[in-house]
Formats: sequence, structure tokens, C-alpha cells
Amino acid sequence: MALVTRWATHGRPTERNAHPHMTAQVSVVHNGIIENFRELRADLEAKGHTFETDTDTEAVVHLITHEMQNGLGPVEAARAALKQLRGAFALGIIFAGQDDLMIAARQGSPLALGHGTGEMYLGSDAIALAPFTDTITYLEEGDWAVMHRSGAEIFDRDGRRVDRPSVKSVASSLLVDKGNHRHFMAKEIHEQPEVIPNTLANYIDMVTARVNFPDLGIDLASINRVTISACGTAYYAGLVAKYWIERIARVPVEIDVASEMRYREAPLPKDGLAVFVSQSGETADTLATLRYCKANGQRIASIVNVRTSTIARESDAVLPTLAGPEIGVASTKAFTCQLSVLACLAVAIGRARGTISAEQEVEIVNGLIELPRHIAALLRNEQTFVAIAQDLSKARDVLYLGRGTSYPLALEGALKLKEISYIHAEGYAAGELKHGPIALIDENVPVIVVAPEDDLFEKTISNMQEVAARGGQIILISDALPEKISCKVAAHILMPKVSSFATPLLYAVPTQLIAYHTAVVMGTDVDQPRNLAKSVTVE
Ligand code: G6P
Repeated sequence: MALVTRWATHGRPTERNAHPHMTAQVSVVHNGIIENFRELRADLEAKGHTFETDTDTEAVVHLITHEMQNGLGPVEAARAALKQLRGAFALGIIFAGQDDLMIAARQGSPLALGHGTGEMYLGSDAIALAPFTDTITYLEEGDWAVMHRSGAEIFDRDGRRVDRPSVKSVASSLLVDKGNHRHFMAKEIHEQPEVIPNTLANYIDMVTARVNFPDLGIDLASINRVTISACGTAYYAGLVAKYWIERIARVPVEIDVASEMRYREAPLPKDGLAVFVSQSGETADTLATLRYCKANGQRIASIVNVRTSTIARESDAVLPTLAGPEIGVASTKAFTCQLSVLACLAVAIGRARGTISAEQEVEIVNGLIELPRHIAALLRNEQTFVAIAQDLSKARDVLYLGRGTSYPLALEGALKLKEISYIHAEGYAAGELKHGPIALIDENVPVIVVAPEDDLFEKTISNMQEVAARGGQIILISDALPEKISCKVAAHILMPKVSSFATPLLYAVPTQLIAYHTAVVMGTDVDQPRNLAKSVTVE
């Protein structure tokens, strides 16, 4: 059995904080976030355990050790500890003196068992295991496994023994693999509970729940404007950030699609900050705009998923998203990871400018930390979206509406649907409904409304009433309880309550699932839609 060193996602990326974390009896590697680790840590410290790192993982190690000190055997101790953990995570656990035992547990973050000859492996997916084996068993949500060299017994969250099939992976030949998903896009949607915390951990100190942002080489306190530019989905991530930065940091944000900004000779402030968002880091228009801003004296920060990309190389500061390779042309996990970085950037600017208190910062950060668990919960109810997709697949046109940060989400939702299902879809600011799109509404036009119960909710409800009065079929994505919705809706995707600031990251997921399942019903080429390319390196 093999455990590989893993760098910390909590605390600074030092050797001390690197995985595995251990006591004399137990050693653990972990992916994801243990949300209640502060409570667990305080409790265990009170019981005499001494912590050596800043990580959330160490709480798991001491918890299992504690259960063993109370007389439980390793498997029972691990099981007892697992029941006490909250969050989205994957764990690998080994024990001193037990060289034929490893425990694996999956809750929210993907985890795969690899079958060798007389040995077993554990990794987050088939790619990680490709050098060792191509025979893989994917654990399902809530599963945990007791692994020996000869094989593994798998249990579900209720402790029932379950059989999970082993499959032959093609990861070794193709380097990337769909896992047990039909499409890369589905796999990438499902990776979000794992990659969002990985990305957040790069910008957040989990122990203090404060943002720990890299130095951009510019005094954030004295900037008087932020310029953001990008294309496609990355542009919509930037548009969400405009709302965040203006609200939290009280600094104006200028944003434009790169294909426009590169040619319109926009005047730029002296010593301004320009932020570029790009999954590939190679998009031609984004790169050209970056060069224009650089030539005009801007400090360049880029949010990229490919650290070796041209955009990264030409930037003064690189802010990586840790989304892993994104294969599906329609961007999903890269979008929510871009939002994760931009959320932290907004807080960093707000803190530098003194427009946000320490308490507000902690509240925002805690809201972000909780997200992966809620996303994992949403993904467990994926069936809801299949029924909605059946109806949507019959539509010719679909409207998406939202206000505030839900407006860019409406734009992004419409983009997702049109690019992979080929159904015409438009996103609108809900308040603009009466300035045109209302003319389109009848019983044949589904209207997808993104409306968390925030300070704009009532306004959006009035827009929904206007739609309903014209027979429009409303699909509402909201955390508001049905009794608060004074208007007829055809479907209501009831969302978990999360902090208002964090809603865009969560509400992106149902729009992804709606688009994905509609495309599946339509039978289109989900991962490689016609006429589209993953990386647009030409103008
Ligand atoms: C293409 C892709 C989109 C992506 C856009 C920007 O259009 O199909 O998914 O959002 O390019 O790409 P970038 O790599 O710069 O984020």
C-alpha cells in the first residue's frame, strides 16, 4: 500500500504542515476541509492532546488516537472519528504496527481505490493511480473502506457492507480519465467540493479564518480602480468580482470582455491594478488586453489554471486556481475556482483599505469554508435536475434572470445551456425584463430565476410575478422556503442557506447541472460542442 506526501491545504505550505500528519499511533493524509476542526481541536487539547501544526488534518489524527486510547481498535476508532467530522473531505489512514491495514473515507471529495497484485492503492482519482494500476474502484459518497494488501471491504455511511464495481481505467494512456462519469463535464462538476477548498486553501489561513493573500507588488490601500478583463465564463467570474470588490472594498471596478477592451483604447489610471482571468492562460484576446494594460503602466495580476501559460508568464503576480485539468469545453470547476480566488482578492483589498472589519472578514471566510459541504449535498440530489432537463429540452428559447451577483450567474447559466445543448438562452438582469425580454414570454418560454433570499429577493419576486402573469414557466433556484414565494413556479430548486457573500459559488452548480442534463437529454456532444474550442488562441 502506498501513501504519498501531500502538501498542506491548511496553514502555510511548510514541511511541518505537510501531510501525512501523525501521532505515535496514527498517520493521516487528507484532501478537503474539516469544518469543525477548531471545536475538535479545542476539545482534544482540553483532554491533553498537543497539536504541532496549523492544519485541520491534525484534529483527525488526534481524534482517532483519542478513540484508540479509550480502548477501540483501529477500525472502530477510525469509524468513531469519522462520525464526528463535518465538511467535505477524503482521508487515508494508517496505524503504527499495522502494516496490512489502511482506512479510506470519502465524504464530498473524490476517492479511488487501486487494485494491484498483492497490494492496494489509494488516490483521489485514476490519474493519481495511473503509474501503479489501471484497476480502480471509485468510492461513493459517504463510503469508507478497510484496505488490506489482498483487497478491500467497503462500507456505506450507515456501516453496511457494500459492493462497488472495479473498472479498468484508461488514465494511463490518456493521462486524464472520466472516472465513473459519462462525461468530463460531469466529472468536473463533481470535483468542485474538492478543488474549491484546494484553491481556497492557497489564499486563506484556515486556523484564523482570515485571508492570507500573496503580495501583488502594489499597495492595495492606495489603488483607486481595479480593471478586470477576460473572455467567456472567466469574464462572468470577473463580473461577480466587480460586485464583491465594489461592495466590500469600496473601490470602482472597470470590467470588459477582452475582445472589446483590447481595441477601445480605454484610459487607465496611473499605477492601477489590472486583473486577468483565464482558465487556459492562453486566450488570445485576454493576452492582448494584458499587454495593452502592461504597456499602460498597470500592475498585472492573473488568475489562471495553467501556471506555465503565456498569461501567467507575462504577469507580475500569478494567482493560481487549483482546479486541476479541465477537459470539458464548457467551463465548470474552473469558474468556481476563479470565484474562490476573486472572493479572497475582494477581501484582501477591503482589508488593505480598511473597509472591512476583522469580524466581517472571518464571517466571509467561514462562509467560503462551508461551501464545499453544501455543494457536495447538492450533488447528491442530482436526480432533481434530470426532470427539469426533460422539460427544458423541449424549449426553443430559455431566459435566465438574476440581480446583483446573481446577474452574472444568469449570464453564465445561459452561456452553459446554449453552448452544450444548442438551445437559445439569454441571461438578463431581472430589472431589465420590462425593457425588452418580457415581450418574448409565453407558456413556451422557461424562465430560470437565480434568486437567493438576499436584500434583492423581493425585487426579483416582483419580476417573477410579471413572468408568471404572462404564463412563463418559472424554474426558481433559491433558498427561500416555498411559503415565501408569492408566485406560481413550475419548479423550485431549494438551495441550502449559505452566507450571502458566498452564494455565487453555490448557485453556479445548479446552473451547471441544468445545462449538463439538458444536453444529455438532447444527445449532444457534451464535452466537445460543435464549433467551440477549449482554448481560443486566435482572435
Ligand atoms: C472558450 C471556452 C470557454 C472559456 C473561454 C475563455 O470560449 O470554451 O469555456 O470560458 O474560452 O477561456 P479561458 O481559458 O481564457 O478562461
